[in-house]
Amino acid sequence: MGTEQIQSVSFDGKTLHILDQTKLPALKQFLQITTIEHCWQAIKELKVRGAPAIGIAAAYGLFLGVRDVCSSATFDEFDHVFQEKSDYLASSRPTAVNLFWALKRMRARLMAEKGHSIEDLKAKLLQEAHAIKAEDEEVCRSIGLHGLSLLHDGMTILTHCNAGGIATAKYGTALAPVYLAKEHGWNVKVFADETRPLLQGSRLTAWELQEAGIDVTLITDSMAAFVMAKGWVQAVIVGCDRVAANGDVANKIGTYGLALLAKAHQIPFYVAAPMSTIDMETASGAHIPIEERDAREIINGFGVPTAPADVKVFNPAFDVTPNELITAIITEKGIVRQPYQESLIELFKEKSEN
Ligand code: MRU
Repeated sequence: MGTEQIQSVSFDGKTLHILDQTKLPALKQFLQITTIEHCWQAIKELKVRGAPAIGIAAAYGLFLGVRDVCSSATFDEFDHVFQEKSDYLASSRPTAVNLFWALKRMRARLMAEKGHSIEDLKAKLLQEAHAIKAEDEEVCRSIGLHGLSLLHDGMTILTHCNAGGIATAKYGTALAPVYLAKEHGWNVKVFADETRPLLQGSRLTAWELQEAGIDVTLITDSMAAFVMAKGWVQAVIVGCDRVAANGDVANKIGTYGLALLAKAHQIPFYVAAPMSTIDMETASGAHIPIEERDAREIINGFGVPTAPADVKVFNPAFDVTPNELITAIITEKGIVRQPYQESLIELFKEKSEN
């Protein structure tokens, strides 16, 4: 795949390199991040975005936040700074649970290594951040393989936002089956929703798929019903930011509408989600915090006034798709279907048995 070489997040031992996704597709520019504050800002401003990539960046960001703690500090002093920095990163964006998952995982590692010297603790934390990234690549490939079983040669899928390679360590979630289909020599075509207001679909998904040599057609969000009615779409696959315990799914604003459209046209609606995106502690979609973003993204998008400056704006970044509209959730451990309340519990049981 063409995006193989592009690592949206990487760490060279000193500096965190983040592909600035706000500059795509015009520029392939990397931020050189050496402080936790800069990492927080990169997450907040969507320079790094997509649930798994946010988690990976946060893990490295947390390492940056503690790496200057004095080596003569006690464990409790180190832990105090760690917790403060972790809470700070947790305040960057509220919806993608991978952020909190990665921070929790870093803390679990810290606790497991209690007793080691401060310098050792730092090294173990960096190791953990590397592991989070490496595992994400494996996870995405497995999602792709499971997702492939739902596809066939010659079909066209529709996707929303960007759940591709640059939103993860590699392959993406929703786009992983598409990349693997290409590896198999299949001809799978994609309609990419533009994804208002920040255009992740046109700026990122269309770019990424084109780079990989995949047949992609860009449409605006409001065209999805029309192309479905034409019979041009055989499946919808989207990524997600959080799956609640009952299978409700938070993803980029507009996903819920797509799910309704898919149902009306009897098109399967699939959600690709790593286990790290499934939040069994959140009972239903009603409890998922939904990020609201600045009105300027809508009234002055990309620097051009597109509405009266003082107009009232509502700008939720995500919506919740009720589980009954979801045909299946594709994870690295397999594909789950209704009733999600039970099938998700089973999935986690299998995970801990493995
Ligand atoms: O606001 P964004 O661009 O971070 O939103 C991203 C999405 O909604 C993605 O679909 C989701 O995080 C899955 S990424 C594999």
